[in-house]
Amino acid sequence: MTLPKWGLGSARMDTMRILGIESSCDETAAAVVVDGVELESSVVASQVAIHHPYGGVVPELASRHHVEAIVPIVAQALADSGCSPDQLDGVAATQGPGLVGSLLVGFSFAKAYAYARGLPFVGVNHLDGHIHSVFLGADPPAYPFVALLVSGGHTSIYHVADPTHHELMGQTRDDAVGEAYDKVAKMMGLGYPGGRVIDELAAQGDPLRVRFPRVYLDKRAFDFSFSGIKTAVNRHLQSHPDCLPDEAAHVAAGFQAAVVEVLTYKLIQAARLRQCAHIAIVGGVAANQGLRDSVRAAAAEAGIQVHIPAIALCGDNAAMIAAAGYHCLRAGMRTDLGADVYSRVPIGGFSAAP
Ligand code: KG4
Ligand code: ZN
Repeated sequence: MTLPKWGLGSARMDTMRILGIESSCDETAAAVVVDGVELESSVVASQVAIHHPYGGVVPELASRHHVEAIVPIVAQALADSGCSPDQLDGVAATQGPGLVGSLLVGFSFAKAYAYARGLPFVGVNHLDGHIHSVFLGADPPAYPFVALLVSGGHTSIYHVADPTHHELMGQTRDDAVGEAYDKVAKMMGLGYPGGRVIDELAAQGDPLRVRFPRVYLDKRAFDFSFSGIKTAVNRHLQSHPDCLPDEAAHVAAGFQAAVVEVLTYKLIQAARLRQCAHIAIVGGVAANQGLRDSVRAAAAEAGIQVHIPAIALCGDNAAMIAAAGYHCLRAGMRTDLGADVYSRVPIGGFSAAP
């Protein structure tokens, strides 16, 4: 394939306006972001209603709906930003990790768009994207900081030294925390996805009424395990067959308290170990009110500043991909238009070279 000669699309060399595209799971998203921080538009088409009856994401359905949504979503993001395609300076798209069939739709579209318009293109690691979501608000962290990434697919702690260097300090050995929320919600008959429902229910319950185990593994290390608590909730429901629906709020509150306590403890410990004055919580579960409150209280006691994206930027979106892509493109990274997507990519460096 002959590659176009890369150059900046806009005459303004001092700022960079990036079109971001995300389709790693069940959200088709596009966004326009300037300099990795200034959000001009962000459009997210959720497929939640499509997958809801199946109790989880059906990959084949997800790919088909991405195909239908990608063109109108990108058009909408450009229209909302008020900029014309000529004013774009680059294109960034999620290259992995995620569902291959879903990733392919956004990634292929983005490559074709960049090629057609002669724009530089970079593939972005979805996890790097989540970390950059915290720079899209009014209260960005200062480097270095420690980030807790909590989503449906990942639960990890990173030391973030600068925009392109993220060191993994620990991660879940089994279920991701969002996955545990979704599975517990399913057991309680609360539908899919269940994180937000459990969060709202927990606010009405007594966290001391039903106590679930806190699984720390090694208290000095930063790996997690959430499969045990999921099993404990299941056992509780089986041994108390009449507890639903009356006791549902107490079960939710007990579950959330156990999960949040471990996440908060490890995040603060990681910041202390690395002597970071700033921490961030990112990913879909960063929308959790119990987690936000708990981390804010613990951080205030430890003299650490907490940074959390707006709720709309916690879940999957393309603004975070444009923000991460900005730093790659600014650093001169380019992804070959022959590049493929990756279902699994560890964080660390950008997926320009996965
Ligand atoms: O980041 P995200 O949109 O997608 C992934 O990359 O996985 O995260 C989705 C996850 C789901 O498991 C969902 O249940 C969870 O985030 N979630 C929440 C809340 N809102 C969404 N979990 C707990 N509390 C919430 N308020
Ligand atoms: Zn995500």
